[in-house]
Amino acid sequence: MVTTLGVFSECGRWPRPAVTGLPSHSMRAHPAGPRHGDVVATPGVPPQPSSSADALNPDLWPLTARVDDQGVLEVGGVAVTDLVAEYGSPLYVLDEVDVRTRAAQFAAAYDDPTMPADVYYAAKALLATTVARWVSDEGLGIDASTGGELAVAIAAGVDPARILLHGSNKSLDELDDAISVGVGRIVIDSQIEIERIAQIAAERDVVVDVLIRVTVGVEAHTHEFIATAHEDQKFGLSLADGAAMDAVARIVAQPRLRLLGLHSHIGSQIFDASGFEVAAARIVGLAAQIRDELGVEIAELNLGGGMGIAYVPDDDPLEVRDMATAIRGIVRDACERAGMTIPRLAFEPGRAIVGQAGITVYEVGTIKNVQLGHGSQRAYVSVDGGMSDNLRTALYDADYTCALASRGSSEDTMLSRVVGKHCESGDIVVRDAWLPNDLGPGDLIAVAGTGAYCRSMSSQYNYLPRPAVISVRDGRSRVVLRRETMDDLLRLDPGGMTHD
Ligand code: LLP
Repeated sequence: MVTTLGVFSECGRWPRPAVTGLPSHSMRAHPAGPRHGDVVATPGVPPQPSSSADALNPDLWPLTARVDDQGVLEVGGVAVTDLVAEYGSPLYVLDEVDVRTRAAQFAAAYDDPTMPADVYYAAKALLATTVARWVSDEGLGIDASTGGELAVAIAAGVDPARILLHGSNKSLDELDDAISVGVGRIVIDSQIEIERIAQIAAERDVVVDVLIRVTVGVEAHTHEFIATAHEDQKFGLSLADGAAMDAVARIVAQPRLRLLGLHSHIGSQIFDASGFEVAAARIVGLAAQIRDELGVEIAELNLGGGMGIAYVPDDDPLEVRDMATAIRGIVRDACERAGMTIPRLAFEPGRAIVGQAGITVYEVGTIKNVQLGHGSQRAYVSVDGGMSDNLRTALYDADYTCALASRGSSEDTMLSRVVGKHCESGDIVVRDAWLPNDLGPGDLIAVAGTGAYCRSMSSQYNYLPRPAVISVRDGRSRVVLRRETMDDLLRLDPGGMTHD
């Protein structure tokens, strides 16, 4: 049953107050933890968000998330309390319907009859054979960026022709694996790679379809983009200094390589189409130059991924369909200006497919109150995971939304910070949260929007075994990735399995 959640408290965020004399939030304050300088003292207390309409914000939580009449969060028809009872805590919970729905939405929105496109799921966001199967079922290919991701996609039974291989430093083995299984495309990221691929292709007596990753001088994040600099990074071949054009000429001269297209990826967590506008204009310009100077038609334009999602209520990314329409318009205009036939398009969303489908459920262990001045305090709510299962807060200063998930509460909310159990003060999961005053050990907290780049960037820091990933659908749960055990960790250590 769905309630209006008078007792279900979501955590929000507010504009962060400046901390005089301490490093700003945009600075990395300390190599051992970005937040060493300012984790404790926050002068002034931001306004407490109203909790009168505490309903789960559908823009932030999985599509099938509900709260039952006891105030318990359920996803896919399964209560998180039941999931933790069965699989333990912490737990990544993945809403299958959400992933499939978004994958299908992307396939439909981007593959327009007037401008056909392929959508590849960027597997780096979250990968397991189950996830690979879901997105392939829904019509997406797979963007693998290592031999490991490629191996999982192949193990899932994904058609190799629907796999594209990325990587800024692909090893010979990775390239050989990709070519031997027959991946549809390899995206060339450096000059050196051209000869490597050509040599393997000759050894295997095949012709390999390639794209060139072009650095177009655009860097986009959220609603901001910079269109002048950003040559100063490791990816791709520069448009500005001629390296991209140079690579084109060398590829065209290689009989074992077929230059299928150009690729550009401008960033991640992008909320609007302005960055794509500049990138598309530049890459179409390059395609026109290739046609004019070398007589080679570029058949495919891959504009990468980066479509953003909402982590907190203020985040306002474009709807999938609106972004697709905007990008199509941009490409159409750019091609018109260049007098070019519109190439087949390709996109590589990762976060936007799985990000919102995933939540992480933690058990509260301890709570410590810290005086902030002005008579206010903050509760440090320690949970049984942390930066090993979600590095994004420590690494990117990412914002998250969280909620008490195992019961309702009609108590007032308290200013809280959800922290992990690692040996670093930068071990923060949710930096700013409002949680009920009566929160205590044993309560479960759910963090929204953890489907992307949490499990995939997880570690075993402090020898914490990684949590399981459990999928839910229609009242049933399934193991996507099982929880690691101490034995898993000890198995890597030749001296560790003495009890076997
Ligand atoms: N294509 C290429 C070539 C990429 O490098 C990426 C992401 C994607 C597609 C997918 O981007 P998405 O649609 O997921 O934004 N760890 C960071 C994100 C790093 C993204 C790296 N490249 C985070 O947690 O925010």
